[in-house]
Amino acid sequence: MTAQAAPADGSLEGIIVARTAIAHVDGRAGRALIRGYLLQELAAKLSYEDVAYVVLTGDLPASERDRALFGSWIRAGARMNERDCAVARSLAEGRSEADALGAALVLAEDAVARAVVDPIERCARVMGRVPSVVAAVAGFEQPPIEWSYARRSLAALGATRVDAPSVRALEVLLNLESEHGLSASTFACRVAASSGANAGPSLSAACATLSGERHGGATARARAMLEAALAHGDVAAFVQAKHGAKERLPGFGHRVYKVADPRVPPLRDAVHAMGHAPLLDACDAVAEAAAPLFAPKGIHPNIDLYGSALLGTLGVDPERYVAAFALGIACGWLAHWAEVRASGRLVRPDNEYSGPAQRALP
Ligand SMILES: CC(C)(COP(=O)(O)OP(=O)(O)OC[C@H]1O[C@@H](n2cnc3c(N)ncnc32)[C@H](O)[C@@H]1OP(=O)(O)O)[C@@H](O)C(=O)NCCC(=O)NCCS
Repeated sequence: MTAQAAPADGSLEGIIVARTAIAHVDGRAGRALIRGYLLQELAAKLSYEDVAYVVLTGDLPASERDRALFGSWIRAGARMNERDCAVARSLAEGRSEADALGAALVLAEDAVARAVVDPIERCARVMGRVPSVVAAVAGFEQPPIEWSYARRSLAALGATRVDAPSVRALEVLLNLESEHGLSASTFACRVAASSGANAGPSLSAACATLSGERHGGATARARAMLEAALAHGDVAAFVQAKHGAKERLPGFGHRVYKVADPRVPPLRDAVHAMGHAPLLDACDAVAEAAAPLFAPKGIHPNIDLYGSALLGTLGVDPERYVAAFALGIACGWLAHWAEVRASGRLVRPDNEYSGPAQRALP
């Protein structure tokens, strides 16, 4: 690895800051590999539990026994006591659910999970609690622990469509969001882990970072943009006006991908499989109108554009879109937490100082 000059803007763009065996996102080829497997293949073919197993352990369960054991850890972690449910709910009073979730994810890990020596079991238990925390923040009943992770997530998000195709559509989105290298939130999780922080607070650090509009917060803004485009009536004119005004289109662009986001086609298929979805039509129309204006600059529709159409079609309130992203990426954050805990040093970069030289107090 050669030394690289960090950009002065603090973005760390192009700077290698860690070695990881979890994911490789190749922005030029438009390809994401998770433990060597293509992300879109994992997403389209597996359950969230199996994807999480790959992300956390490095491969698929070798036997039904392994799969069942992992499932039992997720279920064991899922049960959240009434006191913690009340704490999570109170955090949302006077705050957005996304902001509250950042703090509430500390509750995903309790003393029982912290005492578990095997890092995979500890992560599985904490992951199992994430839908419970999301439901508690929203003030919903706790989803039954024997349900699949995707079904519990759908309930925790307060979706109005809860049939089997809807559960599977959400599962594809969760799978696609499960792991994607050093996103800002994953990096935040690694920084927290490098100090020796426990899993729960490391998830809080990650989720706080996720909530911003350049990251997970983009999904709700993409939904608002789709609604505005539909209300305008002339989608092409709507997009041209945004371009003319040099406005950023939420749901477009990516720091790493300068070619098409490979997560979009499987996500589009998942929404399509749910039947007629006006928001999907709106996505396609916005993407088509934007292509000649933005694609030459390497700005393409990203997972958040089609994710907003999927969540909208499921009847999930945009207030909960950050939570939906957190439910998906939970296993990825935890895999990075475990990787750093096993081998990491404290993250402590240097900065270029631009303040005054030493001076005496008046
Ligand atoms: C994700 C994102 C922050 C990455 O951007 P980045 O790598 O930091 O890129 P920059 O902010 O340096 O922008 C580079 C250029 O592309 C333009 N650009 C980037 N994203 C754009 C978008 N969504 N719409 C319009 N123009 C965009 C910038 O205006 C800038 O143009 P300029 O060179 O003429 O000034 C950015 O694409 C964005 O804000 N997207 C919208 C939010 C979003 O969907 N986030 C979720 C990503 S999965």
